[in-house]
Amino acid sequence: MTRHRLRRAIDVATAALAEAGIDSARTDAELLAAHLTGSERGRLATMDPPAADFFRRYDEAVAARSRRIPLQHLTGTAAFGPLELHVGPGVFIPRPETEALLEWAAAQHLTGYPVIVDLCTGSGALAVALADRWPNARVIAVDDDAAALAYARRNSEGTAVEVMQADVTVPGLLAELAGTVDLVVSNPPYIPAGAELEPEVAEHDPTHALFGGPDGMAVIGPIAALAGGWLKPGGLVVIEHDDTTSRQTVETIDRTGRFTAITAHRDLAGRPRFVTARRTEESA
Ligand SMILES: C[S@@+](CC[C@H](N)C(=O)[O-])C[C@H]1O[C@@H](n2cnc3c(N)ncnc32)[C@H](O)[C@@H]1O
Repeated sequence: MTRHRLRRAIDVATAALAEAGIDSARTDAELLAAHLTGSERGRLATMDPPAADFFRRYDEAVAARSRRIPLQHLTGTAAFGPLELHVGPGVFIPRPETEALLEWAAAQHLTGYPVIVDLCTGSGALAVALADRWPNARVIAVDDDAAALAYARRNSEGTAVEVMQADVTVPGLLAELAGTVDLVVSNPPYIPAGAELEPEVAEHDPTHALFGGPDGMAVIGPIAALAGGWLKPGGLVVIEHDDTTSRQTVETIDRTGRFTAITAHRDLAGRPRFVTARRTEESA
């Protein structure tokens, strides 16, 4: 009986979320139910009846999601590749699109004790995933925002990630890294000013995490310059960008005069998503 009630509640929630304009209504309805029952989504159909106050808490969570509060703020976590990260108000929610960048980075051949830098780390998503991938690596995660850094520290507990507060647009930052870094990764703020966004993004992701100046390139330029200075000859950089700025990102990296093999990549949906490059062998 109560199991039927759970199924009915999920159906009603799905309809309410669809009515609120949420494309992933059924998924979200099930994930909220799974979160509140402490179960897995795939076990909802067969699990024991939920506790007495479940239905009231579920209604509240569905109402909050209908107001377009991000699902991840209601569950307190976001999936990113193999990781489940803590997230909440004040930090950018890691996106599935960035998993394409992660897959590219994780497939590179780094040997020994590589040095990896994640610029604009937010929740620490890329840094923590790469520290998992290369347990021998020194991984430095940089962000300038205190709220983001608190999440990055929490998510990187028990890993070798070094979390650092700094503004990546400052020329000459961490000059002591010159010529020592194997891989620089970044998913920086890159949305051109004025772009229209879904309510979850516009109202709940920090503005500072989203926008990269009038053309979306304000932070990408300084990152390319820092990477050019830090990377060893043959070292690699990968930068995510807006789907309208692939060419500008290629040109920005090229203008540093320090990279070869500059390559534009698309994500699984076929949209231009990130650019990779290799530091030239001669130390310019
Ligand atoms: C799009 S979010 C990406 C977070 C994370 N890399 C991810 O993929 O989930 C961009 C991050 O850049 C940080 N940021 C913005 N401008 C910055 C700057 N000038 N220096 C350092 N971090 C910056 C923001 O605080 C935010 O956490």
